[in-house]
Amino acid sequence: MSAGFENRSAGAIWLRWAVIFSVVVSGIAVRDGKAAVYGAVARPVDPQAAWLTYAPVNEKKVFGAGAVPDTILRLGDADVEKTAEEELESGVRGMLGRVVREVRSADGLKGSKAFVVVGTQGEVEAWRPGLKSTKAIGADGFRLRRDGNAIVVEGGDSRGVLYCAFALLRLIAQERSLAALDVSEAPSAPVRWTNEWDNPDGSIERGYGGRSIFFDEQAVRADISRVTGYARLLASVGINGVTINNVNADPKLLNESNLKGVARIADEFRAYGIRVSMSIDMSSPQAVGGLTTFDPLDPQVAEWWKAKVEEIYRFIPDFGGVVIKADSEGKPGPMKYGRSPADAANVVARALKAHGGLVLYRGFVYNNHLDWNDLKADRARAGFDNFHTLDGTFEDNVVVQIKHGPIDFQIREPVSPLFSGLKKTNEAIELQVTQEYTGQQRHLVYLVPMWKDALDTNTYAVTDKPSRVQDIVTGKTFGRAEGGFVGVTNVGLDDYWLGNPLSMANLYGFGRLAWNPSLSADAIVDEWTRQTFGNSEKVRAVVNDLQIRSYHVYESYTGSLGVGTLTDIIGVHFGPGPESAERNGWGQWIRADHEGVGMDRTVATGTGYIGQYPPELAAKYESLKACPDELLLFMHHVPYKYRLKSGKTVIQYIYDSHYEGAAEAVEFAPEWETIAGLVPDRTYFEVLRRLEFQAGHAEVWRDSITQWFWKMSGIADAKGRVGNYPGRFEAEAMRLEGYAPVDVTPWESASGRKAVVCGAEKCSAEMTWDGADGWYDVAVRYFDEMHGESKYSLEVAGREIEQWKADWNLPNDRLNGHTSTREVVRGVALHKGDVLKVTGWPNGMEKAPLDYLEIVPAVVTHASTSKTAPAAVR
Ligand code: GCU
Repeated sequence: MSAGFENRSAGAIWLRWAVIFSVVVSGIAVRDGKAAVYGAVARPVDPQAAWLTYAPVNEKKVFGAGAVPDTILRLGDADVEKTAEEELESGVRGMLGRVVREVRSADGLKGSKAFVVVGTQGEVEAWRPGLKSTKAIGADGFRLRRDGNAIVVEGGDSRGVLYCAFALLRLIAQERSLAALDVSEAPSAPVRWTNEWDNPDGSIERGYGGRSIFFDEQAVRADISRVTGYARLLASVGINGVTINNVNADPKLLNESNLKGVARIADEFRAYGIRVSMSIDMSSPQAVGGLTTFDPLDPQVAEWWKAKVEEIYRFIPDFGGVVIKADSEGKPGPMKYGRSPADAANVVARALKAHGGLVLYRGFVYNNHLDWNDLKADRARAGFDNFHTLDGTFEDNVVVQIKHGPIDFQIREPVSPLFSGLKKTNEAIELQVTQEYTGQQRHLVYLVPMWKDALDTNTYAVTDKPSRVQDIVTGKTFGRAEGGFVGVTNVGLDDYWLGNPLSMANLYGFGRLAWNPSLSADAIVDEWTRQTFGNSEKVRAVVNDLQIRSYHVYESYTGSLGVGTLTDIIGVHFGPGPESAERNGWGQWIRADHEGVGMDRTVATGTGYIGQYPPELAAKYESLKACPDELLLFMHHVPYKYRLKSGKTVIQYIYDSHYEGAAEAVEFAPEWETIAGLVPDRTYFEVLRRLEFQAGHAEVWRDSITQWFWKMSGIADAKGRVGNYPGRFEAEAMRLEGYAPVDVTPWESASGRKAVVCGAEKCSAEMTWDGADGWYDVAVRYFDEMHGESKYSLEVAGREIEQWKADWNLPNDRLNGHTSTREVVRGVALHKGDVLKVTGWPNGMEKAPLDYLEIVPAVVTHASTSKTAPAAVR
């Protein structure tokens, strides 16, 4: 490490203050005698700390009758080891209420009852030869053990020391006994990176947690203080690389002034053992380099890359490498010159090799102008078709980065056949933490079970070695040295990083799986919950249950049987829009017609995609009987009346799963409410708001998808639910003042195909209750567009019972399934003849749109207390 990087960064200093602040807070708690309340009540926690809350624990559970460490002996001088010491110090303060002494030599241990010693394997041996391990600890690996009154935090290198420190803190946070501590761990693979799709203007492609922590106004932000907080989180789960800009890269980021900015970011990450990398645009030699070509085989182009890479390393000596998206979705690439992805990857890889940098070349290369009328055309084939013949021709420092499924992060996909299609090439699996197709952090979806399915899938690539996807990307199957895991994360300036506090389990889970893909989804979420919310049995039971159920629930009300997330694929990928999948060049076709649904990808009669898998897996998918139901419509086109393994028809399954999923989503908020007061208030309300939204949006999904399939198939729901909505009163059929009916597109995203919009300053819609006297829950379904914050009020019998604003800026400016939402007022007393009146006040472009009122018998028989957060915590 060069002298220039010896000084601790501004971010680290900021962190120290944050730590001191949190200690003061917990110190007050200790003086008040409340230190023993660990896990019983929620204490205020900085949301940016995410799972690194370092909240008080029951030290007896961790140390038994033994002493709690009072001293940290740091043996090495590397910055990363200093970070380890700092984290241990703050963790011990927060969790155990002790202020440790930090010492540099054995002399400092005098009088210590128990201590933590921190160092690399070499440093530990030199300090106390008796502690020499028989086995060498590998790169980034560690051994964590007890030795008498010492806890030995030992790494194969300084990064391993930091990971070991975090492992110890993780155990303490979970109140695990350290009595017989002796664990040795090593990461599964060398590449454990996140990709951040941040743009120079500060926006984030597919980011749902606010604006960029790195960029603003076409440059690196002046204030990058959030970077250190992010680095801590990433390092705590073993992430060692971060690509800071969008794969749709802006070539201007390679300019000198920007590289200086990137160097500042790299300085922040460095102390946490994280190397910064950048996405690059293959046309850069021409776009910003002034050459007339970017042909990767042109010697001038090779020279340009070499010089550019040298420049980058002058600013960032430990630069990790580059990510390349080319010849995909309009990005320039080698195809322009008749060259291959290997030609493009290699020209940059050769430039990086001398500096130890990697090229992560994305396997996501496909033609988005496919011919819908061609029954053999298939986007899913593209990755394998474009890359497998290049196997063995990539430089050793190239890794092909492959999305886990062959399409694009749909709620259910088989694994990409490219994993088994490359045998002499390094591979990394690309997983998406940001919930682009999975509810955009407004829906709770714990993605680890989905990732586990992919990682555990046996490709049958070879018979003499394990060949699950996790074995391939960790290099075991084909003996590859590089490769691993990439998570598209897209954190933002939001205090909770991803917008939804519960979505952080996905980031945590990604890191843990990259470290050890054999961990289970259940074990991972429990670790996360304990660290985030404490060890209370009650909280764990509720949070773990919600997280674990969420994946299947979301799948049920969006796209079941492997059909894909039935969202608006040419729009924002949020609400329902099944029609958008068809009749365009994007190739996310579901091929639904009046007879049946699904893509025929068989070798026998379809696109031949299934033939890209090794024979054993191909045989399973090719056979209708053997193909798992959850992938049926991905692999086969079947009639609606085709019977699944359960005996149910496909069409009835579609109806049932959407109704069951939506009904389960309704249970989430009440379940979460049972832990009110046991999690921090602000977090509680942030989550509650989303779970209530999800319940309402799941209904939009349910109704849209089931109606669409009813129309398409002409087969009615055997249970009579689709098209029949008791208690629903269409706005367009109410007594309107100022409001006018409009058609909604797509038709299925509004009840009765229509809504009403207000062309005046204020409009109203009225109806008279003709049902029995009683307690009811009244839902007002309206549309909350991105721009404009309309106001609404609901009156019953002349009395206002609720008013609210459409201020959640759902991601579209039209009336459709992206913007449809609802306000629910529970426990309303209605008498026959009462007038219900909704008044709307438009704002900006948003015309206070209304869809319907739904009045159903109340779940509770008294007026519930408001579950809406007070303004201060909103
Ligand atoms: C998806 C996503 C794009 C992204 C692309 C990619 O298609 O919608 O925003 O650029 O994936 O991974 O390159």
